[in-house]
Amino acid sequence: MKQPILGTPLSPSATKVMLLGSGELGKEVLIALQRLGVETIAVDRYENAPGHQVAHRAHVINMADGAALRALIEQERPDIVVPEIEAIATDMLVQIEKEGLARVIPTARAAQLTMNREGIRRLAAETLGLATSPYKFADSLEELRAATEVVGFPCIVKPVMSSSGKGQSKVDNADEVQAAWDYAASGSRVNQGRVIVEGYIDFDYEITQLTVRAVGSDGAIETHFCEPIGHVQVHGDYVESWQPMAMTPVALQRSRDIAKKVTDDLGGQGIFGVELFVKGDMVWFSEVSPRPHDTGMVTMCTQRLNEFELHARAILGLPVDASLRAAGASAVIYGGMEEKGIAFTGVDEALRVPESDIRLFGKPESFKRRRMGVALANGRDTDEARARAKLAAGKVVPVTGR
Ligand SMILES: Nc1ncnc2c1ncn2[C@@H]1O[C@H](COP(=O)(O)OP(=O)(O)O)[C@@H](O)[C@H]1O
Ligand SMILES: [Mg+2]
Repeated sequence: MKQPILGTPLSPSATKVMLLGSGELGKEVLIALQRLGVETIAVDRYENAPGHQVAHRAHVINMADGAALRALIEQERPDIVVPEIEAIATDMLVQIEKEGLARVIPTARAAQLTMNREGIRRLAAETLGLATSPYKFADSLEELRAATEVVGFPCIVKPVMSSSGKGQSKVDNADEVQAAWDYAASGSRVNQGRVIVEGYIDFDYEITQLTVRAVGSDGAIETHFCEPIGHVQVHGDYVESWQPMAMTPVALQRSRDIAKKVTDDLGGQGIFGVELFVKGDMVWFSEVSPRPHDTGMVTMCTQRLNEFELHARAILGLPVDASLRAAGASAVIYGGMEEKGIAFTGVDEALRVPESDIRLFGKPESFKRRRMGVALANGRDTDEARARAKLAAGKVVPVTGR
């Protein structure tokens, strides 16, 4: 690969990066890119998304519409396109990459495989031979009934196209299958009605293994591992995370071996969030995001370079340092109400918690369970950091705006 050159934004020499998806994670990537003098273009499906507010230009399009996506890329001519969400016309990204219109991060194939649970699951289990939960796919209620009998109870039913736990439910017995099918249909991103049934893994804990593929000094791709991140999920959505997660040496090594295999196969440059379930020394692959991970927001207070800075550097061909600085934790701040233009009280109280910090994402509309911000905290160890992050998050109270 050529030595990276960075230009001047808003001039003919500009290095231009387009983010597809501009939520809280995209916003931080954009800020990291801005700091390197990159010209940034933020795209999302609604106006005033968090990333729109910090980019040189903002666009609102339906990113699942291939023609609209192509038209925007032709108009903006970015050097690099960075998918930040899953719901994108990835077949168009494949086409764009093939034509050399822009580089797609990490690769168009990675975006395509991971937007559908079937693609990444079959790759991990059937091609790479990684340990996963037992699974089956189903296209109808009848097929789902048969699939649950094969996989066994308890199991988890998920739409193949969904994220953040949407449409996902645990099924304990045959009587609950119908409800799981109906719920999956309601939470699917595209109403194609295909689901995956996964055997329930009774893990001790789950982690995100952030893994960075970056260019080394000899020009070859190197793999860097962040310290493991522990997290708690409620209804398939993350509520708190901490780093480092204490693991046995064997479980840690197995986690990194799995992360290496799957990221080697997906290829390209950038950060990946590899989700793993752990029980004793046993490790199961769950899924992978070829982009920063929500649980990785904790790295904003724990690492020398947070996951967004690592992503920005890696995609630009710059060196990375994945080292930990201090133990820390993150706790999510929810909207708690259905309203536009809300306000937050108690931020002062939150910031009085020792070694704490707050991010408010600036989302224009609040929903009860919408993530509107995050509290971060360091501590002597992750126990202290977790207690502080939760305390700080709880002090922030969303209220009706003016
Ligand atoms: N097979 C499983 N066994 C046990 N828990 C699971 C299983 N699949 C998912 N979960 C739980 O649900 C969470 C969300 O599931 P995941 O597949 O990661 O969906 P999403 O793509 O919405 O993040 C996981 O982080 C884990 O806590
Ligand atoms: Mg997940």
